[in-house]
Amino acid sequence: MENQFLLLPGPTQVPNRVLQAANQPMISHRSSCFKKIFSQVTQNAKRVFCTENDLLILTCSGTAGLEAAVVNFLNRGDKVIVASVGNFGNRFRDIAEAHGMDIDFIDFPLGTAIDPAVIADRLAADSQQQIKAILLQQHETSTGVYNPLAEISAARGNHPAMLFVDAVSGLGACPLKTDEWGLDVVVTSSQKALMVQPGLCLVTVSERAWAAAANNHNEKFYLDLTKAKKYADEKQTPFTPAVSLVYALNEAVDMLNEQGIDNVIAEHYFRRDAVRAAIKALGLKPVADDQVAGGAVTAVYTPKGITSAEITGIMREKYDTVIAGGMGAIKNTSFRIAHLGFIRDMDLIAAIGALELALWELGYNFELGTGVAACQKVIFEKRKIFKDRD
Ligand SMILES: Cc1ncc(COP(=O)(O)O)c(C=O)c1O
Repeated sequence: MENQFLLLPGPTQVPNRVLQAANQPMISHRSSCFKKIFSQVTQNAKRVFCTENDLLILTCSGTAGLEAAVVNFLNRGDKVIVASVGNFGNRFRDIAEAHGMDIDFIDFPLGTAIDPAVIADRLAADSQQQIKAILLQQHETSTGVYNPLAEISAARGNHPAMLFVDAVSGLGACPLKTDEWGLDVVVTSSQKALMVQPGLCLVTVSERAWAAAANNHNEKFYLDLTKAKKYADEKQTPFTPAVSLVYALNEAVDMLNEQGIDNVIAEHYFRRDAVRAAIKALGLKPVADDQVAGGAVTAVYTPKGITSAEITGIMREKYDTVIAGGMGAIKNTSFRIAHLGFIRDMDLIAAIGALELALWELGYNFELGTGVAACQKVIFEKRKIFKDRD
């Protein structure tokens, strides 16, 4: 298959440097060579999470990491708050439900973020301090909303509830300071802003979460994180890891650290601005409110009478440009342009250009080129091109 313009919220484009790193001869995962790479990538990946906490690299997708968080650090029947702003918030609830948690589910309207004051109120009302954890997304992939993690964390005050963060689509694309914000468990997966093929999941664990693990009674085997830590301390994994993906992750993390994680995130927000400018110039409405729009994904309502499948289908089949449809309640009436990971300026222009071609074919009324021009303008400003023009 020819290369596509891939602007999906995962899997994302994998840079050549990372592809080549993965494409190395196989070695024993018990060899000193593997131990060296594993320990190096573990240390370097901590910089992306802004943490000194333990970091575990598991061979599984992000969902398994979220399940591992619930199973290892909470007991059946524990009270938890699940704060949701969309589809993945609902999924975290489903995981907690599957493991018998006592859930206070707080659902915020689509397109908005979690309100820290609501969390503060819930915790203040918990005079017995029975709530063990708050489960939420850093970035909700179905709407493109970034939740104000720092404020939510601060809203805990002196309440001992742990904070479990699903950072699957947000890590490396939106702000996240694990240690500064006191995030207890943070989960991401390789196929998003980390720019690696699917198959690895990264989990950071605070001291407080490890203390909870010591009192954990759930049955678990593959997802036993205490066992994973025991092995990680020896630069090992309990089971056979995806060795090639560990090579790939090592390279990708180097790329991120070379650029600096704050710069990487700033670049994502520039892309967000370019895409949102284009969308608005085309007379379309983004799902996320301006103040809460994250750097990873821009979800957009379709024009009246046009479905997301029609738009994404034409873009994919005729223009080799792959974006995502909607999810949940807005599955048919929204589409998502993802700008996370290894995305270049031309990817943005291609995506907006292909979107215009699809909308035009579907009879939407607008002036061709207005979206592309708006996107180009943001790029010019960012790159300071033609800065001497009036
Ligand atoms: C916010 C969020 N959480 C969880 C997941 C599930 O991750 P995985 O597909 O790696 O299991 C995704 C995937 O898109 C996601 O965006």
